[in-house]
Amino acid sequence: MKKINIGLIGFGNVGSGVVKILRDKKSFLAKRTGLQIQVKKVCDKDLSGKRNVSLNKGMLTKNAREIIDDPGIDILVELIGGLHPAKEFIIEALKKGKNVVTANKALLAQEGKELFAQASDRGKSIYFEASVGAGIPIIKTLREGLVANRFNSIYGILNGTSNFVLSQMSKYNCTFKKALAEAKSSGFAEKDASLDINGIDSAHKLLLLIYLCFGKLISLDDVYVEGISRISLADVNYAKELGFEIKLLAIAKKEGQDLEVRVHPTLIPKSHLLSSVGGIFNAIYVSSDLAGDLLLYGPGAGQLSAASAVVSDIVDLTQDLQAGLFRPTLNIIPDKSIKRLRKMDDFSSRHYIRFMAVDKPGVLAKIAGVLAKFKISIASVSQKQRHKAHVVPIVMVSHEAREKDLRSALDTIARFDIIKEDPVAIRIEEA
Ligand code: HSE
Repeated sequence: MKKINIGLIGFGNVGSGVVKILRDKKSFLAKRTGLQIQVKKVCDKDLSGKRNVSLNKGMLTKNAREIIDDPGIDILVELIGGLHPAKEFIIEALKKGKNVVTANKALLAQEGKELFAQASDRGKSIYFEASVGAGIPIIKTLREGLVANRFNSIYGILNGTSNFVLSQMSKYNCTFKKALAEAKSSGFAEKDASLDINGIDSAHKLLLLIYLCFGKLISLDDVYVEGISRISLADVNYAKELGFEIKLLAIAKKEGQDLEVRVHPTLIPKSHLLSSVGGIFNAIYVSSDLAGDLLLYGPGAGQLSAASAVVSDIVDLTQDLQAGLFRPTLNIIPDKSIKRLRKMDDFSSRHYIRFMAVDKPGVLAKIAGVLAKFKISIASVSQKQRHKAHVVPIVMVSHEAREKDLRSALDTIARFDIIKEDPVAIRIEEA
């Protein structure tokens, strides 16, 4: 049995988890797969911190070239994150004839076209199971388990940090600020959680899922992305009264010949499975033509969960290498029924809308008049109890309305003297 050698760049949380699994489960993996996988070299620019595995000094280096240039290393595992130098390391490794495993969603979402082309030109593969949903085997499921399917839609809760914050607000009636502070103190959020909270991390992951489901690697610039930082506790509670939970949802769905792609806070009916996904959990709900509607659910972050996905890629690649197989990175087949990406103005959905308005006769009529002018039909309306003197929340649910019409209506209403805060509008999805 040929030994397959791994070089790992990025000996942080996930990296040390990978080394730990490959070491602790060496004989288990050998029995299950018949493979001998050996970590040959580990690189990190800072080797001073304490890890939960210790390695011989000889296996450690601060110089990535010792891995990239080593002809005895078959697979590069890149776990440093960020665009640079991760991109250069991967390209160099491919040039040197190595296959690559990475968890780097930001890099693949932004530079994937070039990286996948480089890999395919050289008959090499880039595997990336850990880049979406940590240990949830969503990439393999889409690529292999559902290989005969065409997809209609993807709805994903793809960011554990945001989901934790929204769940805390809903469950414990706490503010966004307090929930985020708790996420940080419990180790569920990075010190700088901005990419998580502003929706960009979810968008990166969604782009990779779209690539697998619809065969197109679209640009982040073409995706409507809105984060959760403006979600107030009041809105979480009013949404609950109406029978909804608010989730940061990543959505891609076919609408005729268009593909609609967006990431934003969304009201989901409590009856929908996704509404009960709480804490740091992720879930991906895909609708396919043969297998029907499927939900994959599990922790979206965590050392061993992400490392489990990295090890699964390593095993897959090792099996390919042993068998002398080359599986072109993903056998991506573009869905030709999709002609264009839908423009945001043309999105249509029901909305939860909240105005903070002066409490006097005629106010509701004035608001309703503008909504009618822009063809927005109201499904329900309620005026909540008085808060500050004479200013009250008016909460509405609209029927399906075009985004452009809704924006125009809200801009008009926001200019009235009777409106005391920017109106809030949150899209509703029945999924
Ligand atoms: N920071 C991500 C999250 C996990 O909060 O879900 C890594 O993708």
